[in-house]
Amino acid sequence: MLSSTGLRSLALVTILAAHSYGALYESVSQLPGWTYDFVIVGGGTGGNVIANRLTENSDVSVLVLEAGVSDRGVQDIEIPLLAPFVTPNTAYDWNYTVVPQQGLDGRQPNYPRGYVLGGSSSVNYLTYTRGSSDDYNRYAEISGDSGWTWDNLQYYIRRNERFTPPADGHNTTGQYDPAAHGYSGINSVTLPGYPTPIDQRVLKTTQELSSEFPFNLDMNAGDVLGIGWTQETILGGARSSSATSYLGPQYINRPNLHVLLHAQVTKLFASKTEGSNVPSFHTVQFAENRQGNFNVTANKEVILSAGSFNTPQLLLLSGVGNKTVLESLGIETLINNPSVGQNMSDHPLIASPFLVNSTQTSDSIFDNATLFASEIAQWNATYPHEDPLVDGLTTLLGWLRLPDNSSIFQKYPDPSAGPHSSHYELIFSNAFAMPGSPSPSTGNYMTIFSNVISPVARGTVTINTTNPFAQPVIDPNLLGTDFDIYVAVEAIKAARRFANASAWADYIIGPYEAWANTTTDAEIEAYARRTGNSVWHAVGTATMSPKGASWGVVDPDLTVKGANGLRIVDASVIPIVPNAHTQAAVYIFAERASDLIKAAWKI
Ligand SMILES: Cc1cc2nc3c(=O)[nH]c(=O)nc-3n(C[C@H](O)[C@H](O)[C@H](O)COP(=O)(O)OP(=O)(O)OC[C@H]3O[C@@H](n4cnc5c(N)ncnc54)[C@H](O)[C@@H]3O)c2cc1C
Ligand SMILES: *[C@@H]1O[C@H](CO)[C@@H](O)[C@H](O)[C@H]1NC(C)=O
Ligand SMILES: *[C@@H]1O[C@H](CO)[C@@H](O)[C@H](O)[C@H]1NC(C)=O
Ligand SMILES: *[C@@H]1O[C@H](CO)[C@@H](O)[C@H](O)[C@H]1NC(C)=O
Ligand SMILES: *[C@@H]1O[C@H](CO)[C@@H](O)[C@H](O)[C@H]1NC(C)=O
Ligand SMILES: *[C@@H]1O[C@H](CO)[C@@H](O)[C@H](O)[C@H]1NC(C)=O
Ligand SMILES: *[C@@H]1O[C@H](CO)[C@@H](O)[C@H](O)[C@H]1NC(C)=O
Ligand SMILES: *[C@@H]1O[C@H](CO)[C@@H](O)[C@H](O)[C@H]1NC(C)=O
Ligand SMILES: *[C@@H]1O[C@H](CO)[C@@H](O)[C@H](O)[C@H]1NC(C)=O
Ligand SMILES: *[C@@H]1O[C@H](CO)[C@@H](O)[C@H](O)[C@H]1NC(C)=O
Ligand SMILES: *[C@@H]1O[C@H](CO)[C@@H](O)[C@H](O)[C@H]1NC(C)=O
Ligand SMILES: *[C@@H]1O[C@H](CO)[C@@H](O)[C@H](O)[C@H]1NC(C)=O
Ligand SMILES: *[C@@H]1O[C@H](CO)[C@@H](O)[C@H](O)[C@H]1NC(C)=O
Repeated sequence: MLSSTGLRSLALVTILAAHSYGALYESVSQLPGWTYDFVIVGGGTGGNVIANRLTENSDVSVLVLEAGVSDRGVQDIEIPLLAPFVTPNTAYDWNYTVVPQQGLDGRQPNYPRGYVLGGSSSVNYLTYTRGSSDDYNRYAEISGDSGWTWDNLQYYIRRNERFTPPADGHNTTGQYDPAAHGYSGINSVTLPGYPTPIDQRVLKTTQELSSEFPFNLDMNAGDVLGIGWTQETILGGARSSSATSYLGPQYINRPNLHVLLHAQVTKLFASKTEGSNVPSFHTVQFAENRQGNFNVTANKEVILSAGSFNTPQLLLLSGVGNKTVLESLGIETLINNPSVGQNMSDHPLIASPFLVNSTQTSDSIFDNATLFASEIAQWNATYPHEDPLVDGLTTLLGWLRLPDNSSIFQKYPDPSAGPHSSHYELIFSNAFAMPGSPSPSTGNYMTIFSNVISPVARGTVTINTTNPFAQPVIDPNLLGTDFDIYVAVEAIKAARRFANASAWADYIIGPYEAWANTTTDAEIEAYARRTGNSVWHAVGTATMSPKGASWGVVDPDLTVKGANGLRIVDASVIPIVPNAHTQAAVYIFAERASDLIKAAWKI
């Protein structure tokens, strides 16, 4: 195996700097100031990009207020394969559940969100997928701003991405398109760094069934269609989050950047802009560990980066939202905008686990405490880390379309983003994995996830109390239309056709019992509703729309409509869920947003 001197020297930098996170404050009593140019609400995926980019200019002062805990030294967060253990219902999660889902037989799945520095980039499953060129071209069309097209965002994609060698240093020729990547950005992206027994069988299937499941050299090059290697936000076998990258050792000690943990923002206060009735948001109120009230001032702007659920929650708590809803809770309406919290789009996901004839699956590690401990010790003792823990749950995945003549198109116009875009995704995992269901304590599995990528259903998030510490009311409306359930059923059938290829003949023993005997469409639909979940990609709850539009929450420059001094930079501004797991889109939006902010203030 090749090793990478680049990675090894980086390791040294990380070790040397590991103990000097000077500007990361654990207590408000340590905070050196109360007035900043910018106050960022939420040190998550989007927020930390803005914090980093604005403080490149040493004349600009920035405070990040993060409700959650530190990510530093948390092994479950650092080790990629342990991602499924980081949430739900842990110290790093907001512990949300959704309202009863009609499309899921009234069930109320957990909906994890990172409650930790790095936000959901610290707790997610590390998949790096940008989406299709069609997705971004549609965002440009929806917002009326050509700055959001795929071509025009390439510069920002590369500002974010630092493509690095995989942990095992293997030759990656033929596993990605080098021309499609950036090598000098901040957040590390890499290919899988440890082989699994399903990799070659998945590839063989893309040859055997090439007309239905073609190989795609690089799903991040604009056209997502086909099956290819999973790129992941990993550096040297460890998670690369917005906290480890954008707030990494070379940035966190900037004297003009302060980051306060355990600081939950509870309300934004506005004053009237001089000479007009436009509210101007400059005061941010927060609590420490849910205690007390502290105010900080943003001289230039408050940036809301609290994510798809907490950003609309904070807008509503601060008087920005549907007047009827606000009045019913006794909140004074500063901006009557009924779009706040509406138009959520998300990806429903159904797992099909297969019992397999192998002991080399992640189940063997998860089910055996001795092996688990020795793998962790080996991961810990090597850099770049060497062992099966260096990858997330998936090494290959793909994006597929329904046939053009599918009967459902007689009832629904095609909601996909365009011809380079999918209706569903298949994700291959060398383990048993079924969100919301405990793993069987024995046996080895492969799971194929079927993910609905072009949902027609839209969900909502709102509040039903003025208590800022209560959870917002979240309704993703999973499998909420006939179109969405049709795609789910077809995607499950596609997964089974895939697993029926000869490459699996001596490997798959049979279906996991929960879906054995579901053969008709009606039985498959019932299985989807009985076991389906979200894959936690909610966007659109504070969507951008054209300047002057009668709907939408932010303008194309992400400033809040009808307000001064307030901008939103997180997943909530993305109008429609992309052909992707959503972190890359958030990074890309945030990179461009930081330039828009710099331009607006000439900084
Ligand atoms: C379990 C899980 C797995 C996922 N897997 C993948 C994956 O494999 N690949 C992928 O691309 N995407 C994945 N995603 C989705 C992706 O991680 C998110 O879409 C993205 O990170 C969201 O970024 P954000 O900036 O909008 O929000 P976040 O990154 O969640 O940041 C919001 C931050 O604001 C803080 N905050 C919230 N409210 C307040 C407040 N009132 N005061 C102060 N701070 C506050 C939060 O604690 C958090 O740190 C996954 C998500 C989850 C939850
Ligand atoms: C979520 O639950 C865990 C475990 O009980 C707890 O440690 C954590 O603080 C909770 N998160 C929030 C935001 O309350
Ligand atoms: C990687 O593999 C390709 C194709 O097999 C080959 O052309 C190339 O020389 C290899 N690179 C290295 C560094 O070995
Ligand atoms: C914060 O500012 C608001 C608005 O000016 C004010 O009403 C509130 O009392 C302040 N809180 C503290 C703790 O100073
Ligand atoms: C505002 O909320 C009320 C109460 O939920 C709802 O009936 C109404 O349709 C909403 N207004 C708009 C314009 O969406
Ligand atoms: C939802 O988005 C659509 C455009 O995609 C828009 O026409 C509609 O007005 C939005 N609804 C709300 C309540 O904002
Ligand atoms: C658990 O792992 C250890 C160490 O690899 C191995 O010796 C043992 O046989 C395993 N136990 C089972 C039940 O597989
Ligand atoms: C990981 O290694 C460090 C030293 O490099 C050691 O302090 C720590 O205990 C190890 N942790 C585990 C779980 O092996
Ligand atoms: C769609 O076309 C294919 C051939 O291209 C055919 O086999 C299939 O039956 C058609 N399906 C429908 C629903 O018409
Ligand atoms: C508010 O919504 C939450 C979350 O859905 C729910 O648990 C709670 O019972 C609701 N409270 C009221 C007062 O309706
Ligand atoms: C599996 O493949 C066999 C032939 O190889 C075929 O007869 C059967 O219909 C296939 N089943 C599915 C579910 O595709
Ligand atoms: C399991 O694999 C072994 C070879 O590794 C093979 O001999 C055996 O027939 C397989 N069993 C099944 C049920 O396919
Ligand atoms: C599936 O059907 C077979 C044959 O009818 C039966 O033996 C088996 O128990 C069923 N499995 C499940 C999980 O329902």
